[in-house]
Amino acid sequence: MNVSADLVSDVAEVLLSEEQIAAKVAELGARISKEYEGRELTLVSVLKGSLPFMADLMRRITIPVRIDLMEVSSYGGTATESSGLVRILKDLSAPIEGRDVLIVEDIIDTGLTLNYLMRYLRGKNPRSIRVCALLDKPARRLVELDIDYIGFEIPDEFVVGYGLDFGEIYRNLRFVGVLRPEAYES
Ligand code: IMP
Repeated sequence: MNVSADLVSDVAEVLLSEEQIAAKVAELGARISKEYEGRELTLVSVLKGSLPFMADLMRRITIPVRIDLMEVSSYGGTATESSGLVRILKDLSAPIEGRDVLIVEDIIDTGLTLNYLMRYLRGKNPRSIRVCALLDKPARRLVELDIDYIGFEIPDEFVVGYGLDFGEIYRNLRFVGVLRPEAYES
């Protein structure tokens, strides 16, 4: 992979600007705060891609929240395709039994990762479990899923930035963009 000194120059197109993302995160935070009013919410972020979204979203929620972090990796896929085989690298640090849980995800692509995660977390007997995803690529969905909060629907393109990576790079871009084909070449 050729990563130029300036990561931004590897991006062909900015799909979502920093300002668009910030406005949407504020809107989602307000909706969540309203719909869970009077309750306490456990936000479960799925590392690493959801890290910036989680950090921004939690600060836009005005009700009491606990946070927990999971890390999963799918294996057997390619650099840009998930296989649906999910391995838990880091599990929750506290029980969620009887709690209202909101999974905070960066992007739902085939849906296989989330499908696995939902089944896994339901097994821990939360009071409720819902999903908030910043990005949704419905064109590639392989399993039917109910996503309660969606930031943006995006076309079937591989995107980077605001937490999302290609080969672990580009997560620190403040916008979401599509890479130039040259950036994929090794
Ligand atoms: P799914 O299991 O196919 O829904 O894949 C979900 C995971 O694949 C996400 O949490 C991301 O880590 C990764 N992913 C899917 N699409 C993209 C993309 O366009 N850019 C970067 N990562 C992606």
